[in-house]
Formats: sequence, C-alpha cells, structure tokens
Amino acid sequence: MRLPILAIAVGTLFATTALADPIEDRQAIMKERGQIMRTLGPIAQGRQPFDAATVLDALEQMNANAQKTDIAALFPEGSGSGDTEAAPAIWEDMAGFTEISDKFKADAAAALEAAPQDLEAFRAVFAPMASNCGSCHERFRLD
Ligand code: HEC
Repeated sequence: MRLPILAIAVGTLFATTALADPIEDRQAIMKERGQIMRTLGPIAQGRQPFDAATVLDALEQMNANAQKTDIAALFPEGSGSGDTEAAPAIWEDMAGFTEISDKFKADAAAALEAAPQDLEAFRAVFAPMASNCGSCHERFRLD
C-alpha cells in the first residue's frame, strides 16, 4: 500500500526539480542573503545598536540560507546564459567556486554557534562570514 504513495512522492520531486528555474532559485537565495545583511551589516558597523536577540535571529536566517545552497542544483552546467550575472568562471573553476560556498556555509554555522552576546564577539564572527560575499562576487559574479 505504501508503494504507490512513494511513487507519487518521487514523481512530484522530479517534476518539481525539472520545472524549477535554477537562475531564479539562486537569485532568490542571494536576494534573501542581501536582505539579512541589511540587518547585520549596520550593527557590525556600529550604525545600529547591538541587540543579541536580533543578531541571533538574523544569524539563524543566514545559516539556514547558507546551508540550502546546493551548488549542483543551483548552478547546473548550461545555466550561465540568460538573465543572470553568474560568470563563466563558475563552470571553468567549479572547485574554486564550491570552495568559497563551503567556506561561507562553515562561517555562517560558526557565527550562529558562537551566539555572540556583545558587539566585539559579533564582529569577530561576522567579518569572516561577510568576507565570502565579496571574494565570491569578485571572481564569480559579473558586474
Ligand atoms: C560562492 C559564491 C557566492 C557567495 C559566497 C555569495 N554570492 Fe551572492 N552571488 C553569487 C553569484 C554567482 C551571483 C549571480 C547569480 C545570478 O545572477 O545567476 C550572486 C548574486 C547576488 C545578488 C544579486 C541577486 C539578484 O539577482 O537580485 C545579491 C544581492 C547577492 N549575491 C548577495 C550576496 C551576499 C550578501 C552574500 C554574503 C552574505 C553573497 N551574495 C555570497 C555568488 C555568491
């Protein structure tokens, strides 16, 4: 009795995967990343007061966002043309691209794990995490 249900579930999964637009999906993840940075950035810069609960909530969101970066699904071969700023370098150096993405995941997890209670502790985990945005965009995102 369970087999047909499983077959339907698997069928739906594949249909969803096939229909999903990897360019739209990855841009949505990136947009969300930018949104979360609008909370964290000004706090790190001292332009907004440090609030541990606000920071923890944003770090939770950032970690969830980072961990759902499935490079194979979001940057499949052949998805480098169209309405995208993804640079051809991604597919020329997939290992280098994946390495920065993995570092971002690790840094986002570490920042959440640290649960910083003051500005100094927050800055110490925010800086390495945020540096990945620039280092990846510099090499792998078109202007
Ligand atoms: C491993 C590489 C990588 C990392 C790390 C990364 N990005 Fe990106 N980002 C990209 C690529 C590639 C694009 C272009 C995607 C496209 O247009 O298909 C992009 C696009 C964007 C966009 C534009 C989205 C749109 O089309 O509206 C924003 C905003 C953005 N990134 C923010 C961030 C922020 C903030 C961080 C760090 C917290 C970050 N990214 C980390 C690779 C990365």
